[in-house]
Amino acid sequence: MSELKVLPRRRVAEIKEYHPPLGGRGGLRLDFNENTIACSPRVREALASVTAEAMTLYPEREPVEALVAAELGVRPGQLVLTNGVDEAIHVLFGAFLDEGDELLLPVPTYTMYEVYASATDARVVMVQAGGDFSFPRESLLAAITERTKVIAVANPNSPTGSVVGREVLLEIAARAPQALLLVDEAYFHFYGETVMDLVGKVPNLVVARTFSKAYGLAGLRIGALAASEDVLRWVRRVLSPYSVNALALACLPAAIGDKEYLNSYVAEVRAARAEFERAVDGLGVRRWPSEANFVLVEIGAKHREFATAMHERGILVRDRSNDPGCDGCVRVTIGTREQMRRAIEAMRDVLTELKETK
Ligand SMILES: Cc1ncc(COP(=O)(O)O)c(C=O)c1O
Repeated sequence: MSELKVLPRRRVAEIKEYHPPLGGRGGLRLDFNENTIACSPRVREALASVTAEAMTLYPEREPVEALVAAELGVRPGQLVLTNGVDEAIHVLFGAFLDEGDELLLPVPTYTMYEVYASATDARVVMVQAGGDFSFPRESLLAAITERTKVIAVANPNSPTGSVVGREVLLEIAARAPQALLLVDEAYFHFYGETVMDLVGKVPNLVVARTFSKAYGLAGLRIGALAASEDVLRWVRRVLSPYSVNALALACLPAAIGDKEYLNSYVAEVRAARAEFERAVDGLGVRRWPSEANFVLVEIGAKHREFATAMHERGILVRDRSNDPGCDGCVRVTIGTREQMRRAIEAMRDVLTELKETK
């Protein structure tokens, strides 16, 4: 066979390959910030009631979109459902980032912003957070230029768990009227603060939400993007009308309807987070305060060995050492209190073992 003579776009050839470690994930999954138990049983019922005939139809997202809009307190025209927040980021960047534009990113942050920026011809401008990972307000404001077109802020942020207040977000939106401010609220439920109520009032504000985390539907791939009609008009131009599949659409009303399930899962994770943070402090391991369903801990030079040894004990954690400013750091997803007690026990053993093999 002869060789392929076709090259990808230069930017695509330059992107670092991103392969999240999805294979062989048996054991306690504290590596992807998913729900660590199961989705609501009502979702299982909704799934079971999908008929074979229904599967033959192209999915119709509008009725469910209207339901989600009502749930989030925005108008139906101010919301689109997407194939996870990942697709929301992809289409938003695709619709707005042109050659010569800048995407402004406080880092460390969610990896996919940079990946999807590389599918455009925009330049990525990164602003490093300080050692405490608090939001780099001043340096971010100073980095805004007339070319800034999108500013992406995960709130709470991943992998740090840190948050930024509403006043600062409003300040950023006001200081960059030529840019969209994407506030990615993937971990909203574990935090409780939102700027969703400002959608439509702040013209350049875009808010993303996912059903992958607290709702436990990562496998169904559903997210939502809320913004003024003027912004979403352009997003809809590049969004596939069928990217949210029929099974996801069939399940979403049940997921949203089961408040009891959602509230009890979130309450359990919050209690587990507080207990886990105290236990990490007890181990003498540095950690950063988190408002999400994960905690970033500093393991030091042996971060890789730590993650491997945890895996050998049946607990998956995520080495984040390659993230900007995160040398030696590992991210641990928070599940239930019982799961986190197992994690702490394993951490204690592994850390002792690693100390002995200095
Ligand atoms: C900040 C942030 N945004 C978005 C996502 C992806 O969400 P989804 O599963 O809806 O694509 C993640 C997943 O880890 C995340 O951490």
